Amino acid sequence: MTTYMTPTADTITTRTTAIKLHGPEAFEGMRRAGRLAAEILDALAPFVQPGVTTGQIDDIVRQMTLDGGAIPATLGYRGYAHSCCVSLNNVICHGIPGDKVIRDGDILNIDVTPLLDGWHGDTSRMFLAGDVPIKARRLVEVTYECLMLGIEQAKPGNFLGDVGHVIQSHAEKHRYGVVRDFCGHGLGRVFHDAPEVVHVGRPGTGPELRPGMIFTIEPMINGGKPGIRMLDDGWTAVTRDRTLSAQFEHSIGITETGCEIFTLSPTGLHQPPYA
Ligand code: MF3
Ligand code: CO
Ligand code: CO
Repeated sequence: MTTYMTPTADTITTRTTAIKLHGPEAFEGMRRAGRLAAEILDALAPFVQPGVTTGQIDDIVRQMTLDGGAIPATLGYRGYAHSCCVSLNNVICHGIPGDKVIRDGDILNIDVTPLLDGWHGDTSRMFLAGDVPIKARRLVEVTYECLMLGIEQAKPGNFLGDVGHVIQSHAEKHRYGVVRDFCGHGLGRVFHDAPEVVHVGRPGTGPELRPGMIFTIEPMINGGKPGIRMLDDGWTAVTRDRTLSAQFEHSIGITETGCEIFTLSPTGLHQPPYA
């Protein structure tokens, strides 16, 4: 059973099982945090090139986040010690920045979450380094389409199952696998809140969408099977069959008529092929 709540000063900062229905103040806070998150990814674009390390990307993200008056929400989150996640090629998500050098033909996801005035702007997109083979570019494009098809379903009266269903249908039409082990999430003053946003599903199932809900959609799509394997670092998830994986993420809020995307790039850079 799904329950909804109007957050109060006491509950707004705590994770709840009920789904929070936020007001205009939250939407304004999310707009600002989401805008900064998108601008951080925009600024990375020229920098993500063969020869750069994932640790250097993390340094830039940290600096840009602080310059924007925010704090990287991942820094110290459950023991995570970095300002973003950088997930290369067969890494599905939560790749830890370090000495790894980006090479020609790599695809990578960079996921940032600036915490600005108490609000979390959570977004990720794919970057292409150098000359990327068509097969990998196709996976990136279809994954972006999956996110946007899901967002089209995000409106009052629809259900989370409608969102998952279109994502799954589109991915599987291309014989890709949708990762089941990680999902989108409610957010706001809380980083990971109810509901869980699963990227597969059946129409008309799951929680009904209502104005004021704020959550991410962040499909992880594998070039092969959906299975994952966790590395010994306890964070990095890779494809079990070693195929490539892609992901895009936006933070959105349900409005009276549809939804507002908080993490759109002011310059349109959120969208492949980033011409
Ligand atoms: N930004 C990720 C998400 O989309 C969460 C990363 S948590 C970390 O939910 F600790 F791995 F960074
Ligand atoms: Co997220
Ligand atoms: Co994220």
